[in-house]
Amino acid sequence: MKFQVPRGTRDILPGEAERWQWLEDRTRSAMALYGYREVRTPFFEATDLFVRSVGEATDIVRKELYTFQDRKGRSLTLRPEGTAPLVRSYLENAALRAESPARLYYMGPMFRYERPQAGRYRQFWQIGAELLGSARAEADAEMIDLFRAILADVGLTNVTVLLNSLGDQVCRPRYRESIRAYFTKHENELCGDCKERLETNPLRILDCKVPSCAPVIAGAPSVLDSLCEDCAAHFEAVKRALTALSIPYEVTPRLVRGLDYYTRTVFEIHAANLGAQNAVGGGGRYDQLVKDFGGPDTPAIGFSIGMERLLLATGEESSPPAPKPDVCVVSLTPDAAMEAQALARALRGPLTALVDVNGRSSNAQMKWASKTGARWAVFVPKGPEGYAVRDMAKGLDETAQPTADALRRWLTERRDLVEAGR
Ligand code: HAM
Repeated sequence: MKFQVPRGTRDILPGEAERWQWLEDRTRSAMALYGYREVRTPFFEATDLFVRSVGEATDIVRKELYTFQDRKGRSLTLRPEGTAPLVRSYLENAALRAESPARLYYMGPMFRYERPQAGRYRQFWQIGAELLGSARAEADAEMIDLFRAILADVGLTNVTVLLNSLGDQVCRPRYRESIRAYFTKHENELCGDCKERLETNPLRILDCKVPSCAPVIAGAPSVLDSLCEDCAAHFEAVKRALTALSIPYEVTPRLVRGLDYYTRTVFEIHAANLGAQNAVGGGGRYDQLVKDFGGPDTPAIGFSIGMERLLLATGEESSPPAPKPDVCVVSLTPDAAMEAQALARALRGPLTALVDVNGRSSNAQMKWASKTGARWAVFVPKGPEGYAVRDMAKGLDETAQPTADALRRWLTERRDLVEAGR
């Protein structure tokens, strides 16, 4: 074999693809129930869009972007996430700003050059929702509620909501300095990456998974102790709102997330059975991003769910069974092949119908028909009594129907009875 799927990517094959469709369908209905509407942005954007939002010092921008030049020398990047593209679109399209708040969602592949492992890919899919135009705690609560509703709708209820606040432009710089001072004192105990982060992005040290860093991190000052009055009040209001909705949460002062645009609330939802990559998704407020992109003052909040992780966490039992056709049309003579096609087409709509396109013998077609799991085989050319029908499950010839219309009605009725379990 000459070619292989690129490292960190994979094919989603029939069988699994039905699970994806099912997840997509459920998500779309949940989004509709909450009044969120879909936006489909391009898979690539100007590189600067991500540098300016996700942040120059983040791992995503420094190490994980798929960046290339197009033929005119423009620097473009395969989107590593969906929030910055959505904000770009929001500012570019007045229609999206017509309603305030704007409730929007997206679903699609994202690209990050990460070290592949279970639940971590270089092309992965996200479901994301964004609410632009509210600074109030009710918006935070709606977001987390929607996130949980999507998970619950596909059977994932054993989850933990982790909640933190990162402050804003008033209190975060103070916290950044106090944490930089603390880690500088303990520099010798930090791993190589964290020593580097001390300069570039000291907050990210809190998120380091290297075991030797854990004791130093445990002693670090908590962001919650340095929130300014407004941020502290907002955080309290968010907690009250979640309690009012009976949503349990764990306050996690070490939760910092890997993107720079966050202000105030950040959250993740973890599922117990996911192992190391246990975040099904995460999000938070980004009250400055629209303004940073040159737009009006527009506080906003959103989240994204990793679809591979969600499917991993829900497990096989929640997925729909592989589809079987209702009918196979079998041609008894080689010259009836096109009559078979025409009949299959006439049956389709209420029924799923397959037909041989390999010129197989009628015996071989019968074998193929039973392999597909079709409940019925119907035969062409039409006999003197009409189209003969065999029930493949019972191995019985059942009836003959005079016309294609009569056949379609008869089969549809039977199929509905079988599906109703009668
Ligand atoms: P994020 O935490 O970078 O946030 O990604 C969200 C989710 O995407 C993760 O929790 C995980 O489930 C999934 N994910 C991330 N990287 C990978 C990967 N390499 N392989 C598989 N799954 C992955 C964001 O992307 C923000 N845009 C979320 C947000 C929306 N914040 C505000 N609005």
